[in-house]
Amino acid sequence: MPDPAKAIEALARELPGRVTTDPGALAAVAHDASHLSATAAAVCRPADPEEVVRLVRWARREHIPLTARGAGTSLDGESVPVPGGVVVDLSGWSGVLEIDPVDRLVRVGPGVVNADLQAALRPHGLFFPPNPGSWTTSTLGGNVATNASGPRSFRYGPTRAWVRGAEVVLGTGERLTIGGRAAKRSTGPDLVSMFVGSEGTLGLFTELTLALAPLPARRAGLAVPLPDGRPLAPVARALATATGLGLSAVEYLDRGCAEALARVENARLPADRALLLLEVESADEAEETRHLEAIGATLIGLGIPEAASVYPEADRLWTLRGQSGTALDRTLGPRVREDVCVPLSRLDPMLEAIAAAAREAGVPLYLYAHLGQGSLHPNFAIDPARPTAARLREAVLRAALRLGGTVSGEHGIGRVKAPFLPGEIGDGGVRLLRALKRACDPDGILNPGTLLSGEAAP
Ligand code: LAC
Ligand code: ZN
Repeated sequence: MPDPAKAIEALARELPGRVTTDPGALAAVAHDASHLSATAAAVCRPADPEEVVRLVRWARREHIPLTARGAGTSLDGESVPVPGGVVVDLSGWSGVLEIDPVDRLVRVGPGVVNADLQAALRPHGLFFPPNPGSWTTSTLGGNVATNASGPRSFRYGPTRAWVRGAEVVLGTGERLTIGGRAAKRSTGPDLVSMFVGSEGTLGLFTELTLALAPLPARRAGLAVPLPDGRPLAPVARALATATGLGLSAVEYLDRGCAEALARVENARLPADRALLLLEVESADEAEETRHLEAIGATLIGLGIPEAASVYPEADRLWTLRGQSGTALDRTLGPRVREDVCVPLSRLDPMLEAIAAAAREAGVPLYLYAHLGQGSLHPNFAIDPARPTAARLREAVLRAALRLGGTVSGEHGIGRVKAPFLPGEIGDGGVRLLRALKRACDPDGILNPGTLLSGEAAP
């Protein structure tokens, strides 16, 4: 049996000044935003890719698992360490290395915070479209590793659509450069995409090349109160399929979520109704006026006559909206937070299945959604550790699969939902993923238990 304490001492000698076993440091990385937690043996902060290679070689030699971590905002245990493993803290790799307005790309360290990148890009008239709820704190390495999305994915798609290239250290210790600067490539299966959403199980990002979009001249956020009992699916379908509205986000908060969010300081949101939150992008004032009129007419056609509050600074609305989770933490405490996505055409039965699951379990439901994409976050006010919670979760995930949807629209699989991945990708998909895992990480040292459960820990 290897002696873990001796192994950590060896690592500290291998990478002097980069390793800590301080209890405060270990406590700071024990959790993510899920209900899970575990205590690592050490935190390592490698300073360059060669140090990452040495760290990985050490982990292979010692059979000690590594868990990559950015800001630790993952929602399903993706960045929760393996007990006794080592957390690879990449949050310090926060350099914006290059902004190229001609190639319309940026090269960044994996620890750059999404909002910091947006701030760096603004003077260049560019932006990085994915804006997950955690955008003010989460890192791009984490956004890419979980294929995060957020409100603007309604128009711009998920993070996957915006990753052009990456430098990766595999679980073999090999350094790999995948993709690159070209706007497109047709050179076989997409290796970059393979690492997007791999949740730290195939390799560790040491650099990312991300594509950018031109910043629209004008953006407005709208908060639209919904009359009680208004069926949601027709609203979603109408807003998602209409043309000429300029919409880049179509979000929904049910009444309970809106009330929780309205309590956040300076929220300035109506508190007593369910809400649609919309974002409109326009080239100039005249176009914005046309968009707002067309949206007003569409809403009236849907029986939603009340005027919207307009937020000229749409980003502020998304910062606020990103606090939905913490606002519900305050109201509900620990709960089951789900993240299914179904085709818009199946929204009605999915919403019914969610409501029925809550009703049958006798558990209050709080729903918010990236509605325009059928991407739903039902929150159930029940301790996730209780057996009823597991049954509830299972009922919702099974319904999503039955309806042609997915068990994770944007949070990832992590440890929490590893048992449900096979239901989506089937035996063939599991075989393929395991083969890929073996090829990239033959000793199973990278984040074991995430994505695929039942994997032998090293
Ligand atoms: C959000 C995250 C939880 O939509 O996905 O706020
Ligand atoms: Zn979300």
